[in-house]
Amino acid sequence: MDEYAGRLNNFYNTIGLKRLIFPPKLFYGPDALSFLIDQIPASGAIVIADSFLINNETFASIRKKIDANVFYIYNEPRYSDIDAILSKTDRNKPPSAIVAIGGGSTIDTAKAVKAFYIYGKYQRIGYEDRNISTVMDAKTLPLIAVPTTPASGSECSRYYLIFDHDGNKTVSRSWNLIPDYSVLVPDFLKNYPAKAAVLSAFDAFTHMYETLICRNESSPITNEFSYIGINAVIGAMHQIDKDRPEILPGELIEKLQLSAAIGGLVLSNIRTGMIHHAAEQMSSQVKLSHTMSLIVFCDTVMSFYSAPCADKYKKMIGRIREEGTNTISDIQDIIDLWNRLFDHYGISEELRKKMSAVKIDIKTLTEKVFSDRTWVEKESPVPLSFADVSSIVSSSVGRYKK
Ligand SMILES: [Fe+2]
Repeated sequence: MDEYAGRLNNFYNTIGLKRLIFPPKLFYGPDALSFLIDQIPASGAIVIADSFLINNETFASIRKKIDANVFYIYNEPRYSDIDAILSKTDRNKPPSAIVAIGGGSTIDTAKAVKAFYIYGKYQRIGYEDRNISTVMDAKTLPLIAVPTTPASGSECSRYYLIFDHDGNKTVSRSWNLIPDYSVLVPDFLKNYPAKAAVLSAFDAFTHMYETLICRNESSPITNEFSYIGINAVIGAMHQIDKDRPEILPGELIEKLQLSAAIGGLVLSNIRTGMIHHAAEQMSSQVKLSHTMSLIVFCDTVMSFYSAPCADKYKKMIGRIREEGTNTISDIQDIIDLWNRLFDHYGISEELRKKMSAVKIDIKTLTEKVFSDRTWVEKESPVPLSFADVSSIVSSSVGRYKK
């Protein structure tokens, strides 16, 4: 049995026993691009890249230095995309490395390909077959992740999402599939639109916020990581709110890249919470991007937990102020900062239009959100009644319906 797919995957922090696993070797900074090129074997690697990189200069400079098969990702990955990549690789001769350059979907695709080599399958690893064995030593097939968005944290997380043949999202997880190297290359975020940066940063913020407030699973060490990452995100958003740029200022790139990576670290070790679960459940009723659906629930959830999370909020705000963002005095200031940015960049309006165009069945959505018993009974900062969930869901959705 593989410990990293089995026992460790199903370990949860308790009050009495905490865990921190952080296997990726994380590299970042202005010289990260040349470091990355040195890490990729000169031959025999496969590169899985986001299709927007086809004409990208930085990507071209990497390709020039290595002899590797390149597979482009055009949409959120499906089983058929993974099968298509595998059909063009030699099952009996694994690549010298798998390099993923792109957003969360691209890195997730690379994890699925690596899963196939080391487990002989890639579907629902860590869930359906908890005693799965490896057919190849994971360490002999390095996975190098290079994120081009500072959002999902996939570059530092053990999870990956792939759509099955029927279009349903499937989740897998294994500590064996966390990237061996995570290289944050700032060059890929040059000319990154500020609107996209706000959306990306909000996803990363939510990962850190939700792990921080877990009642039993949160741990002092992951909380520290969350405080550091949240502080960096809020500092960056404060600057964007002040200057309202069209393009992400260069000096904020590293801050946001590191925050997203920290988000991946903490969510791998703890879990996300009600905001992610509610957003996920709503996706069957309204088609929104991952981050847009988080926006719907975040304000209400953050306000709801003001009393039970008073100590954590106080510490979080103290850290933000210590680092110089002294316009933030309470949780409402954080909520207002995000909302000003969403309004300025047209995100709120877009969300209202999409939410108003469909009928949302609040009762079904509430029942689905309430079905996450681990959150409702165990990890929510206070246990939630059906009436609590119903009130959070209806006021969240109501805010965006015209
Ligand atoms: Fe997320």
